[in-house]
Amino acid sequence: MRVVVAGATGRIGSRTVVRLRDHGLEVVPVSRAEGVDVTTGKGLPEALRGAELVVDVTDAPSRRGRASGAFFGTATRNLLDAADSARVEHYVVLSVVGTERLSAGYFRAKLLQEEQVRRSPVPHSIVRATPFFETVETVSRSVAHPDGVHVAPVRVRPVSTDDVAAAVARGAVGMPVFGPVEIAGPEEHRLDDLVGKMLAARGDMREVVVDAQAPFLGAVPGEWTLLPVANARLGHTTFAQWLGDRDDPLPVRGSRWVKRHRQSPDPEGIWPAGTGDAGRRSA
Ligand SMILES: NC(=O)c1ccc[n+]([C@@H]2O[C@H](COP(=O)([O-])OP(=O)(O)OC[C@H]3O[C@@H](n4cnc5c(N)ncnc54)[C@H](OP(=O)(O)O)[C@@H]3O)[C@@H](O)[C@H]2O)c1
Repeated sequence: MRVVVAGATGRIGSRTVVRLRDHGLEVVPVSRAEGVDVTTGKGLPEALRGAELVVDVTDAPSRRGRASGAFFGTATRNLLDAADSARVEHYVVLSVVGTERLSAGYFRAKLLQEEQVRRSPVPHSIVRATPFFETVETVSRSVAHPDGVHVAPVRVRPVSTDDVAAAVARGAVGMPVFGPVEIAGPEEHRLDDLVGKMLAARGDMREVVVDAQAPFLGAVPGEWTLLPVANARLGHTTFAQWLGDRDDPLPVRGSRWVKRHRQSPDPEGIWPAGTGDAGRRSA
């Protein structure tokens, strides 16, 4: 069986290619590095010739709303048109858990991508994943603020890219479900705790400031927004295993991190010093 993987060189794509080959499938990798462009359509009909399955794990080059909307709108239309012409039997797209509940432009773009797939005549499945561990780490590096790292106290089940790729490959070799299936990590964390542990693990001494208004990838999630529905599939990789498996393992043991709650804003916009809660041991 021949399967086209769009986004084959990416974090999920490269792992999905391995999994699909393990299932015995012939994989046609698609990416600009392979000479195929899903936004211009260059090389797509040739890549899809004779394919029975298509897996879309591409990502937009920018998280900005307009750019990601333009990317997913055009790429998804091109891929679906090519899949329809090639009479593909199953089209699998990777999306985001909670995307319909998140108001930032990137998540609206992912929701529109899902709607395009739902409206298409091609039999399909939508795999929705919770944030990858790497994404939480990116958040911990990017939300810099003079008084610390502001993080919303929301619940999250981060997942490893290996577990997501396994779920995508399993979805692709199964029957179309004509709707979403969700994949999440095995453990539930609070985002502020997890970011604190990531900071401590890499020796970053900044404090975590618990701030209900702190954005997550541009959206301000509610406490439960990032969690999957009750019957989600759960991956195997825990946070501790993910940290330990990294190419650049970090010294977790004995490191400390401190968190405190954001104070009500004062008129001058200055947070009072020394309002920290007790420090917590992360390992
Ligand atoms: N990050 C998260 O926490 C998270 C959570 C849930 C779901 N997701 C979803 O997971 C998906 C995959 O993410 P990822 O992190 O694996 O992405 P990634 O590592 O950035 O990979 C993106 C892939 O898309 C390809 N691509 C980009 N533009 C292209 C174009 N014009 N034509 C052909 N190929 C193109 C890239 O290859 P070239 O550059 O060679 O073209 C690359 O293979 C995304 O759709 C994302 O929404 C992410």
